[in-house]
Amino acid sequence: MLMKGKKGIIFGVANNRSIAWGIAKKLLDDGAEVAFSYNGERLKGNLEKLLAEYPGRKLYDCDVSSEENILKVAEQYKQEVGQCDFLVHAVGFADKTYLEGAFLPTPKEVFLQALDISAYSLVSLTRAFKPLMTAGSSVLALTYLGSERVVQNYNVMGVAKAALEAIVRYLAYDLGPEGIRVNAISAGPVNTLAARGISDFPDLLKIHRKIAPLRENTTPEQVGGAAYFLLSGLSVGVTSEIMYVDGGYNTVAVGAISAYDKE
Ligand SMILES: NC(=O)c1ccc[n+]([C@@H]2O[C@H](COP(=O)([O-])OP(=O)(O)OC[C@H]3O[C@@H](n4cnc5c(N)ncnc54)[C@H](O)[C@@H]3O)[C@@H](O)[C@H]2O)c1
Repeated sequence: MLMKGKKGIIFGVANNRSIAWGIAKKLLDDGAEVAFSYNGERLKGNLEKLLAEYPGRKLYDCDVSSEENILKVAEQYKQEVGQCDFLVHAVGFADKTYLEGAFLPTPKEVFLQALDISAYSLVSLTRAFKPLMTAGSSVLALTYLGSERVVQNYNVMGVAKAALEAIVRYLAYDLGPEGIRVNAISAGPVNTLAARGISDFPDLLKIHRKIAPLRENTTPEQVGGAAYFLLSGLSVGVTSEIMYVDGGYNTVAVGAISAYDKE
């Protein structure tokens, strides 16, 4: 019960398949006081249903592309909850028209929107909630291997995740002297609402199962376990880290030959 009584907020629960929900369950079941943000009324209903067995949670409507909206949520949270021991950024978006085929055609507005929502928002959220953080507070973001290596169709999201990972390192450096830690989990592919926007995603899941040393797909529960570690005092001393929770996939250059097309 290391998170019992700890207070914080999770951005990015859309439904029961969300990676953020895997993290939330772990924290809620451990007795943490978790607040949530949702993006629009439609998703609020999902969240309310999920939280039926955890009554009294604070919910905030937040579009992370709006600085004004973020500041308003941070102010409301300050009034209603107070301190922020943990903040989870599990938010990402890119126009799915460009998560298919070549990267080259990506228009500037699509690029900027993807980087704004998926990467810059970590800066805005951390800045807005920082006055509520103290030594021991922990910030966590979610990233994916497509930031470092080409994953077909991931395209502009790969660029956004590369920025997000660099942001994690710079924020960790800025906040380290105050004892605030910033890390990311690089999760293997998980079948979520956002992931289904990526072309051929079911194939990506299948390839992952064949090649990852653990020979299985990553689950939100697995990410939840690692998130618990990174958000709790267990990981004191760990910051600026990108931790893989991908069954070891990132370490394999050539996996089971049967996973590849043979001509
Ligand atoms: N699913 C995967 O395979 C996978 C793998 C590695 C990393 N990730 C990352 O995990 C995080 C969570 O995604 P997920 O896969 O659980 O999908 P998801 O669809 O469940 O969650 C994505 C969330 O982003 C939110 N969002 C999108 N635009 C927003 C905006 N403008 N303002 C506020 N919120 C907004 C959505 O409301 C949703 O809650 C994302 O950062 C994603 O890139 C996902």
